[in-house]
Amino acid sequence: MLDFLGSLQRTHMCGQLRAEQDGQSVVLMGWVNRRRDHGNLIFLDVRDRTGITQVVLDREVSSDAHAKAESARSEYVVAVKGKVRRRGAGLDNPNMATGEIEVVAGELLLLNEAKTPPFSPAEEAIANEEVRLKYRYLDLRRPPMQYNFELRSKVAMAIRNYLVEQGFLEIETPFMTRSTPEGARDYLVPSRVHAGSFYALPQSPQIFKQILMISGFDRYFQIARCFRDEDLRADRQPEFTQVDLEMTFPHQETVFRVTEGFLTAAFATAGITLTSPFVQMTYDEAIRNYGIDKPDMRLPAMVSLTDEVTAELRDSLKIEKDLPVLGFVIPGAGALSGTQRRGLVDEIRASFGDCGLDFLDVARLKTNAAFAPLAQAIEAKLVNNATLAPKSGREDGAPDLVIVITPKIGTPAKWNHDPQWIYKRVGALRLELARKFADKHKLFEQTGTAADFKFVWVTDFPMYEWDEETKTWNAAHHPFTSPHEEDIKAGRLTSDKGAVRALAYDIVLNGTELGSGSIRIHRKDVQAEIFRSLGMSDAEAKERFGFFLDALEYGTPPHGGIALGLDRIVMILAGATSLREVIAFPKTAKAIDLMVDAPTPVSELQLRELHLRIASRS
Ligand code: AMO
Repeated sequence: MLDFLGSLQRTHMCGQLRAEQDGQSVVLMGWVNRRRDHGNLIFLDVRDRTGITQVVLDREVSSDAHAKAESARSEYVVAVKGKVRRRGAGLDNPNMATGEIEVVAGELLLLNEAKTPPFSPAEEAIANEEVRLKYRYLDLRRPPMQYNFELRSKVAMAIRNYLVEQGFLEIETPFMTRSTPEGARDYLVPSRVHAGSFYALPQSPQIFKQILMISGFDRYFQIARCFRDEDLRADRQPEFTQVDLEMTFPHQETVFRVTEGFLTAAFATAGITLTSPFVQMTYDEAIRNYGIDKPDMRLPAMVSLTDEVTAELRDSLKIEKDLPVLGFVIPGAGALSGTQRRGLVDEIRASFGDCGLDFLDVARLKTNAAFAPLAQAIEAKLVNNATLAPKSGREDGAPDLVIVITPKIGTPAKWNHDPQWIYKRVGALRLELARKFADKHKLFEQTGTAADFKFVWVTDFPMYEWDEETKTWNAAHHPFTSPHEEDIKAGRLTSDKGAVRALAYDIVLNGTELGSGSIRIHRKDVQAEIFRSLGMSDAEAKERFGFFLDALEYGTPPHGGIALGLDRIVMILAGATSLREVIAFPKTAKAIDLMVDAPTPVSELQLRELHLRIASRS
């Protein structure tokens, strides 16, 4: 028989009680986390969002409550009325916030029962993610998940408060709109009223926020839901949330300072004190030093060894002279046996395939009398560079793994369409190896301080990206991004697209792109020119963005902004590796919601009303 709540009022949360409350009468409500039966004594660990309290059911104190506790099981919902008592000497549990006390129950209500769950929310790690997603309500009961969503709520609130203080207005923009220019596939909503027409769900509020600047709102922000039909990964969901903002008359730095301000406020909610301004580098510097436009600054940068490698060594090892020799170290990972080392070299060579790169074994070079000093110089340069980078959990004195990569003679011809390919390829190897050794050498171990979070601004992105498949130039960010003034003036939009730099920037954290933004084009002539340079005819530009081109003609102020992935911010701050840990009801890699089972087919009637017919089913 289940009990009713009646007039019973909760007095405390389950994570609240301490020794100071010894002797007080309390009422707790929550779920049975664990039950231990010792005959005359039954222990129920009662859990709510704030924590767990041990409740003692003593047959001597209340035989009625004790009898009910005999039938209670995991995840039953209970209310307990009782007295707080200090635990006996030596019985404190230092692993629990409430570990100094227990509650001796005088009354126990069984408010609801629970089927035996497919997994217990009391378990720390549940291997099967599909089961977690199907029974998401149970998964979300787990303390680490409750922590993540409390963090998410605090982060969002801190960001809101900060931006409002800085004069930003929160303004909502539509979900049912027309295609926006972020470059992914749209989710479409068929119109019942207009047969054959569709709304698109916004990939971002980009055009609307620019229009709000034209409308004179000066500073806009929104914690905005965005929708993109694209291949999903650990850090990509089909619907996700952006902290989206836009401002009038900004310089790049104005946007940077506001962003640093709200990130600092957000991280403070988790007790992390960030130092700003953040490091800043150009896209070209990022590629040369890290081989990627989202550098992971927790690891040492790559180093060019071109000056160290003498002509003699090049000849002897058949190294191409027109390409750089690049090296890097993986901190603390250098203690390898001969077999492990050979295995690693084989792996690296296999991963390069026939791209023309080779591994230079510095250790072996050191044994060659002619080249030993050179090998030492190379190693010293790499290791010195590494000491500039944070060492995370690295054991003192552990040798670094030194990696040097050389291009073989004849390599450049194959790759001349991308002069930066060698930096990108070696940069990718740097990340591959870091991942490989990360756990063993605690490369990314969290210390709970600001040192865990390495932010960097990357600026001056190229305006255009060459698409080898379609043989066209695409906008690297989006087509509303302003090129550098000098590049427009020098006529490069038509004469040398590859060299045009954009006033576009990314904010990167620990190798993940957190956000992107740009200073926008505010003149109609420049906007039309950019559409043209992207191969869009005037007619096509008018058809897709005519309303926006019109708006640009009515007094558009210079403006710019940025959008950061809120999910990604919280994921990294929570130390999670997938967005699914910080989105309450996420989708799988196949874009399925396993709990509600979406998407689903719809009825013939619904299709007919929407003027749709299904041509084929998967
Ligand atoms: P962008 O397309 O770079 O820029 O997106 C900005 C940030 O949004 C996050 N993000 C995602 N997060 C989770 N899942 C996804 N599928 C996903 N896609 C993007 C990332 C990314 O850095 N309108 C421009 C911004 C601007 O120019 O102001 C835009 O949306 O963290």
